Amino acid sequence: MSTVFNFTFVPWFRAVAPYIHKFRHQTFVVGVPGEAIAAGKLPNLVQDLALIQSMGVRVVLVHGFRPQVDEQLRAKGHAARFHSGIRITDPVALDCAQEAAGQLRFEIEAAFSMGLPNTPMAGAKVRVISGNFITARPIGIVDGVDFQHSGLVRKVDVAGIKGALDMGALVLLSPFGFSLTGEAFNLTMEEVATSVAVALQADKLIFVTEIPGIRVRPFDPPGEDNPIDTELSLADAQAILAQAPTPTQPTEPAFYLQHCVRACLGGVERSHIIPFAVDGSLLLEVYVHDGIGTMVVDEKLENLREATPDDVGGILQLIEPFERDGTLVKRSRTEIERDIANYTIIEHDGVIFGCAALYPYPEAKTGEMAALTVAPQAQGQGDGERLLKRIEQRARLMGLQSIFVLTTRTMHWFLKRGFQPVSPDWLPEARKRKYNWDRRSQVLVKRLS
Ligand SMILES: CC(C)(COP(=O)(O)OP(=O)(O)OC[C@H]1O[C@@H](n2cnc3c(N)ncnc32)[C@H](O)[C@@H]1OP(=O)(O)O)[C@@H](O)C(=O)NCCC(=O)NCCS
Repeated sequence: MSTVFNFTFVPWFRAVAPYIHKFRHQTFVVGVPGEAIAAGKLPNLVQDLALIQSMGVRVVLVHGFRPQVDEQLRAKGHAARFHSGIRITDPVALDCAQEAAGQLRFEIEAAFSMGLPNTPMAGAKVRVISGNFITARPIGIVDGVDFQHSGLVRKVDVAGIKGALDMGALVLLSPFGFSLTGEAFNLTMEEVATSVAVALQADKLIFVTEIPGIRVRPFDPPGEDNPIDTELSLADAQAILAQAPTPTQPTEPAFYLQHCVRACLGGVERSHIIPFAVDGSLLLEVYVHDGIGTMVVDEKLENLREATPDDVGGILQLIEPFERDGTLVKRSRTEIERDIANYTIIEHDGVIFGCAALYPYPEAKTGEMAALTVAPQAQGQGDGERLLKRIEQRARLMGLQSIFVLTTRTMHWFLKRGFQPVSPDWLPEARKRKYNWDRRSQVLVKRLS
């Protein structure tokens, strides 16, 4: 075996360890649209889900079947009918939906049963349990349109699902529910996944979708200057929804986002929108620091905010001890007052516990993150990380492609978070002129994807 492999594999595997520990015993609800299955992504998705489950995650998988139902309808020469993006399920469509669900369920169960030697499924023993876990009610007549057998979730059998998960099984749900009169209702995968995530108070709701995530400017065309926003606060996600028309197509930014917001409001702290087009996207989102799609997070952001002139005193007090011991470069009150708009702070009960500043160099499409500080008594709780994320977000909104830091003592903290060392020559000209060669700070850069 080449030693290069040891040097890459071992640190890589160790870097994943904290996530494996963190997610053990957590519950993830994963929604996979029928489009992903139609695109042939099922075998790899199943392999990744089996791996996640084997690492102790309790998995509920909800599949969709939009294209499969449409195909059945076409085969029967019956037109698919929608209103406001929701299928009108007449008796023929109900038949088609039942056939499609049955077939998909078999396909998924078969995929989870594979275990050929020398494949990622070798040795995987995934027991799949499906059942009548969802009680439904009809959508009824809306705007004069009778939705017939299209329904909404009335109730989730939480005890039943938890019982199956406790047995170590993976729970598989089709977008179907039954009424108390025994009638079947066609639901949407998004509705079922969201309702189940809220009912179980799942740790994550993950949609593996036809879109790569939500862009920084969600309604503008994709491009290098309009990348995927890796983390959206609940408030920002709500602001996007307020601007968006009611989505009818899964490719519209608000289509999955509306469900993420509902989940967040219902107590699911993290919801993700990730692309099925990228092989392994589930693993990348869950076990890699920056993820690959968009995560909507309800992290009670009210105490993380941009600074105002009133915060200058608090910032000075916070950074002063670190300036004294040489960890941070000295900044005067005048300097901080002048640059206050560049600062982001974390405040608890009127006391500033953390801060960081972003100094953009637009001509070089980069920006410096400076003065990152968390008060000693508040360290180790993720505040440093939250400040970094917010600075990254501010940088993306400015169209910057990277951020850099100069550090003498905190190099490892940044390396762990995707920064890479570069020579001081890399710095933008204007910053290079101010570089203090005596301090011998290490320059670290993080590219913003
Ligand atoms: C660096 C700093 C901002 C991190 O803030 P934080 O809120 O503690 O960070 P998080 O909670 O997100 O991360 C904590 C992790 O970072 C690690 N860490 C803290 N300081 C570190 C350092 N100097 N080098 C490497 N890792 C460090 C902790 O051990 C902890 O690791 P764990 O998650 O494995 O337990 C904070 O330690 C600080 O204010 N340091 C002094 C000022 C400074 O060095 N600023 C950077 C100037 S360039």
